[in-house]
Amino acid sequence: MKVTVNTLHSMAAEGQKIAMMTCYDASFASLLDSAGVDIMLIGDSLGMVIRGEGSTLPVSMDEMAYHTRCVARGSQRALILADLPFGAYQESPAQAFASSARLMQAGAHMVKLEGGAFMADTVRFLVQRGVPVCAHIGLTPQFVNAFGGYKVQGKSESDAERIVEEARILAEAGASMVLMECVPAALAKRVTESISVPTIGIGAGPDVSGQVLVLHDVLGVFPGKKARFVKNFMDEAQSIQGAVGAYVSAVKDGSFPAPEHCF
Ligand code: KIV
Ligand code: NA
Repeated sequence: MKVTVNTLHSMAAEGQKIAMMTCYDASFASLLDSAGVDIMLIGDSLGMVIRGEGSTLPVSMDEMAYHTRCVARGSQRALILADLPFGAYQESPAQAFASSARLMQAGAHMVKLEGGAFMADTVRFLVQRGVPVCAHIGLTPQFVNAFGGYKVQGKSESDAERIVEEARILAEAGASMVLMECVPAALAKRVTESISVPTIGIGAGPDVSGQVLVLHDVLGVFPGKKARFVKNFMDEAQSIQGAVGAYVSAVKDGSFPAPEHCF
């Protein structure tokens, strides 16, 4: 059965973990679909893993629409979530809607945008017009220049308090899902307990509704140093299908993330 926004809400309510992974093309979409991945994210991480850029900032709407179309063609079951890239939504709710419409027409079922409470009006505008939204908070990679690097967010009590508040405001604005990246596990748990929509974590500990990892990280195909929150599932698998299946099982049974993957 197709995964819809309703499926995700029931899964979260029943404590069934949501397995999400990034995907950028039709062949992997088909493989991830058979392995039981619930949500495929066409992440602007494609700037790094596909294009070899140093950040997500150079990614264009044309690229996002192209890869979204590729993934949507290869998938039957998963919910297709597409990132709004840097510069394509921050200007105004109208700009965000025009960009979201392109991604939905390319096959997305939901769009993801980065930012806290200041994005609430945009979230409301999109939701009222039929675009389900996932709000990405914590370490938001499009802010790398403002953050001065990729750093764990929400470590101080005041930052943690602000992130809890932002999640609440975004959920109230109608966000269907909240994704938290690189925040302390205790904070992600607090956010998950204080909002009624599903939460997805990456480097956010086990106490969230689901997990996401970048496909290339799951398969150990990345240059450079492995981030703390990443697990290479190819280490113990005989095949790519096996590694993706092991990731899905580990998310579902709660064995991933383990304490060594958390902050
Ligand atoms: O672009 C991406 O892959 C993401 C995930 C890391 C959440 O936004
Ligand atoms: Na992203």
